Amino acid sequence: MNDAMRKTVIAGNWKMNKTPSETVSFLRELIPGVKDASCDVVVCVPFVCLQNAVEVTKGTNVKVGAQNLHFEPKGAYTGEVSAEMLRDLGVEYVIIGHSERRQYFAETDETVNQKVLAALAAGLKVILCVGERKEQRLQGVTNELVSLQTKIALQGVSVEQLCNVIIAYEPVWAIGTGLTATAEQADETNGAVRKAVADLYGTDAAERVTVQYGGSMNAGNADELLAKYNVDGGLIGGASLKVPDFTSIVRSASK
Ligand code: PGA
Repeated sequence: MNDAMRKTVIAGNWKMNKTPSETVSFLRELIPGVKDASCDVVVCVPFVCLQNAVEVTKGTNVKVGAQNLHFEPKGAYTGEVSAEMLRDLGVEYVIIGHSERRQYFAETDETVNQKVLAALAAGLKVILCVGERKEQRLQGVTNELVSLQTKIALQGVSVEQLCNVIIAYEPVWAIGTGLTATAEQADETNGAVRKAVADLYGTDAAERVTVQYGGSMNAGNADELLAKYNVDGGLIGGASLKVPDFTSIVRSASK
């Protein structure tokens, strides 16, 4: 990480875990342990837990995010949630383009782009996910792939809006598998993401963008990953579901 240039952000992605009442008890336990963090701390919870999470974290340094949204502002989209609805609830962040959304819910680079634009227009901060599958890494196309994913997702995003975008590099083969990219792989690919941002907005803007790593980051490997120049935080799945583990990662990022 490069603290002088950019913000370090540790975000938990709870996926489809925890009920609204479990959310309240988890956050009450988490808040005292992370209150002195020098990094930003975000928890991205299921839609039905958002209201409780916003209430419990009010006045603390823990921010709340959603895990998806629909790109239309309103209308006949049964089961969907708009950016404006999230903003009205007091939600600050939203994860967009997670590989599970791409894989199981047919999201494409184009719909990811539409969602990014809708979120930013509503005043949300975006955690944009990019990453390669195992066979793509073996084919040697990782850097080109994450670069393209980044560039398509950011089509139409102004340089002013870019300060509300975090990019999370998440190798699909490392998500929930216990396999982590080496710190060198994470640094290199995060660097490719940053280069893509530089191609679009120039080097200064790219140096200011927070690029997280995600994929089996945990209390044991966070120090090494976060020490890398291009790794400005983490998007944490499994290890964000336990207060001690998540707190430990936040402490690693605050060193
Ligand atoms: P994981 O998930 O930490 O459980 O690998 C990360 C993510 O999917 O964001």
